[in-house]
Amino acid sequence: MPSLDEAASHSLPFSFAPVPMKILFVASEGLPYSKTGGLADVIEGLPRALREMGHQVAVLLPRYRGNKISSTLVSSVTVALGDALRFPALAEGPSYNGVRYFFVDDPEFFDRPHLYGNKNDDYPDNHARFTEFSRAAIEFAKRVWLPDVIHCHDWQTALVPVLLRTQYAKDPVVRSLPVVLTIHNLGYQGIFPPAALRSSGLPDSLFTMDALEFFGNLSFLKGGLIFADYLTTVSRCYAKEIQTPEYGFGLEGILRNRAERLVGILNGVDYAIWSPEVDTLIAQNYSVHNLDGKRACKKDLLDTFHLPEENMDRPLIGIVSRFVDQKGFDLIAEISAELASENLALAVLGTGEAKYENLFKKLADKYPARIGAKIGYDNTLAHKIEAGADMFLMPSRYEPCGLNQIYSLRYGTAPIVRATGGLDDTIQPFDAQTQQGTGFKFQMYQGAALLDCVRGALKLFRDQSAWRALQANAMVKDFSWKASAGAYVTVYETAKRARIPRVVGTSK
Ligand code: ADP
Ligand code: GLC
Repeated sequence: MPSLDEAASHSLPFSFAPVPMKILFVASEGLPYSKTGGLADVIEGLPRALREMGHQVAVLLPRYRGNKISSTLVSSVTVALGDALRFPALAEGPSYNGVRYFFVDDPEFFDRPHLYGNKNDDYPDNHARFTEFSRAAIEFAKRVWLPDVIHCHDWQTALVPVLLRTQYAKDPVVRSLPVVLTIHNLGYQGIFPPAALRSSGLPDSLFTMDALEFFGNLSFLKGGLIFADYLTTVSRCYAKEIQTPEYGFGLEGILRNRAERLVGILNGVDYAIWSPEVDTLIAQNYSVHNLDGKRACKKDLLDTFHLPEENMDRPLIGIVSRFVDQKGFDLIAEISAELASENLALAVLGTGEAKYENLFKKLADKYPARIGAKIGYDNTLAHKIEAGADMFLMPSRYEPCGLNQIYSLRYGTAPIVRATGGLDDTIQPFDAQTQQGTGFKFQMYQGAALLDCVRGALKLFRDQSAWRALQANAMVKDFSWKASAGAYVTVYETAKRARIPRVVGTSK
């Protein structure tokens, strides 16, 4: 059996025939049903890859507005949230890629315009919504689909391990059920005032430093980090970073304590969706063997942003992002004048904090012939930017994995990234001497470092033969889910074995 760390190296040939497992994903979003960010892509791609390996996989999601179901399986599950009882239903939706999709159905909690809150504020009852979801997930496992392992994701489902090892610890059906928690982003922890403990139906005994208490508040994620059997995060670099004060958001000590059970497994991408050969959302398909279609995509992208044709010969930089501090846009604000004075064009798609929306809107107003900004969420446009841009910018302050830079590689769109988390693990700086490398990378979180890096990319773009070499290197990189899914199976197996009570000695 490979070790966890070996499993994460992706290169390990498995020396045993994996026994098919029943794996239950519990997550707050997942395609094709719901999405705000990369978590949803992972909850689509990883279950599919596990299914293709021969495992049985089910995904449990909240039933958000517009999610269609095929049948209601349990019309009322009694969930205690403190003094209040709630009665969500358990439902099944159409299967997809051979994966079964189930829902916790409580319209008052989940049939809302957004998943987690409006633009500026989280919904004030998020602790209750996701406590109900986590409690219902355990009831789902007991009554509908008992798995060999539960795989939870982020703070919204971090109470599943807490509940399994505390209030459900003596339940004969689920007490030995292994649970793995993946950290997609330590910046979102589910922190609530202490009163949320009682209204979540959790015992006061959990409000201690060794459990859910976090600087006087309640942290759902902290509970999950302590009670899950194994922890994973979405790149090897981020697994190391989160054990340091710079990236640990105050949880670095706990993560260091659990380092033996924490592994970084890089996200894969689904090339059936994100590849210029087969992408149905772009103007023209193309491949590493014939890049003609990429020019048609660039023209189409310029048209979409109402940018004039003269930009065809300028390097076009694309951005697709949630506009939050994590993504490093304050660096762009710092150098926006210098950036705009370079001979480049910029196409930006994103939504989020007003300060960043305004930054890009103002830039587009000031330089209408070279800079376009669309504020909003638009999947088709995200594909068009991947295909039509020459470069893709991700100057993140931190980035657990990041998917867009991996998509960019396949589209021959050179990523410009800061060396952090998954960005560091997936992008190699291009070396003009050896013609090796796939993109551009800077280290220090400083505007000047970003500007230097962008200038390096602009310079290389002028040497079209070197540029073609970079594109070819990037487009043949393989970050499909297969290797990473194998690494997760190793984690599931290890978690399962860790829960089997050891027989110490034998009776005479
Ligand atoms: P994060 O999950 O932190 O937002 P990732 O890079 O892992 O970052 O994933 C982001 C995903 O969300 C990608 O699939 C990206 O294309 C998509 N995305 C982000 N913002 C938008 C947007 N405004 N419109 C369409 N897709 C978006
Ligand atoms: C988070 C991270 C992102 C990662 C995604 C999927 O939202 O910010 O880096 O790619 O989750 O794991």
